[in-house]
Amino acid sequence: MNGIDTTASSGGPRRVTLLGSTGSIGQSTVDLLLRNPGAFEVEALTANRNPERLAEQARALRARFAAIGDPDHYLALKEALSGTGIEAACGLEALTEAALRPAEWVMAGIVGAAGLAPTLAAIRRGAIVAFANKEVLVCAGALVMQEVSRCGATLLPVDSEHNAIWQCFDLDRVDTIERIILTASGGPFRERAFEEMRAVTPQQAVAHPNWSMGAKISVDSATMMNKGLELIEAHHLFRLPPERVDIVVHPQSIVHGAVVYRDGSVLAQLGSPDMRTPIAYALAWPGRIETPAKRLDLAAIGRLTFEPPDERRFPALRVAREALMSGGGCPTVLNAANETAVDAFLEGRIGFLEIVDTVERTLGAIPEGPLESLDDVYNFDRTAREIAAQFSSRRNAPATALTDSA
Ligand SMILES: NC(=O)c1ccc[n+]([C@@H]2O[C@H](COP(=O)([O-])OP(=O)(O)OC[C@H]3O[C@@H](n4cnc5c(N)ncnc54)[C@H](OP(=O)(O)O)[C@@H]3O)[C@@H](O)[C@H]2O)c1
Repeated sequence: MNGIDTTASSGGPRRVTLLGSTGSIGQSTVDLLLRNPGAFEVEALTANRNPERLAEQARALRARFAAIGDPDHYLALKEALSGTGIEAACGLEALTEAALRPAEWVMAGIVGAAGLAPTLAAIRRGAIVAFANKEVLVCAGALVMQEVSRCGATLLPVDSEHNAIWQCFDLDRVDTIERIILTASGGPFRERAFEEMRAVTPQQAVAHPNWSMGAKISVDSATMMNKGLELIEAHHLFRLPPERVDIVVHPQSIVHGAVVYRDGSVLAQLGSPDMRTPIAYALAWPGRIETPAKRLDLAAIGRLTFEPPDERRFPALRVAREALMSGGGCPTVLNAANETAVDAFLEGRIGFLEIVDTVERTLGAIPEGPLESLDDVYNFDRTAREIAAQFSSRRNAPATALTDSA
């Protein structure tokens, strides 16, 4: 598989940079770094609007550089770091500078297409990129993978399903692989009737039954758009057509992913739902480090169940698959419209069922076209956000915002 090889160097502390260190993925990564003093050195950390947490992490990890995306928070960051010798900077250029600084390993942990420029910067200098920020591959997959090959970068999948598949994927005998399986928890509304989902609130949507994650991915899990984004991510990472990527709902989130070989063997990776396990696999790769993740007690779990996804109640999966099959700028539009609609939902401007409806209407409103350059990506992305915002503002606002009381 291009982009993932098995021959990393080892020895000496690994120098790392975390893009999005203040988020859920970022904090889990920081936790692992703090548990393994001496094994890692931290070059740079980034955030968007949380200077306090960023400064606290930078001090604890003795980072050299801390970048905050939103310039309004620069002074707070600078003050919080005064006297430490840690350099502070702000804006998109600062995020890109963080990615460009000389770290062997970079966590792509920003949420959304906002991570595209810094992640590409790390890829273009040939870094090992631990890849959580799936929207980057959804909005610019083929272009990003071309850059990975051209620049000799290494992508290590962090998304639990893709990390599981990577752990089972025989990179030396790809021709023996028939298909891969992504599991899905089904989210908090797995058993809800379609009409009942009309009234669900942001608070209910972000309360994932198994995983503790950022707000955007939690809503994506509830609509199952997350699995649609992951289908597109898997298509690029493992270079498989969509018809060779199966999706199965597995409410316990114990089996994270599997690879089906041509002799009928199925290799799966299991573990408790704790992102520190896949992050640790990428962080220590090609070795392994200890994590405090709860060990599986299969006898106590007793039953693992699997069921097909219900695309009638959760149309996001179909919409994402169709966008992938249409190709060109369609996945870029899908991603941008989804980010816009999820924001609108979290702010109480549209209802839950209107998220995927907005995405589908935005896809229908924008003529298809090729995606040949980053300019194309930014153009499709901008147009889709504008159109999705119009659709989102015309709706009734039935729900409370995430910040309102539940
Ligand atoms: N959480 C999980 O368990 C999980 C699992 C698999 C994959 N992923 C993927 O990993 C990525 C991160 O998810 P998450 O749950 O960790 O998200 P999150 O908790 O919302 O954190 C997002 C991070 O990105 C930063 N950020 C947000 N907007 C930004 C912008 N415009 N420019 C620069 N930085 C920005 C945030 O900074 P502030 O804190 O300052 O806002 C924060 O550090 C997503 O693509 C998600 O799909 C997450």
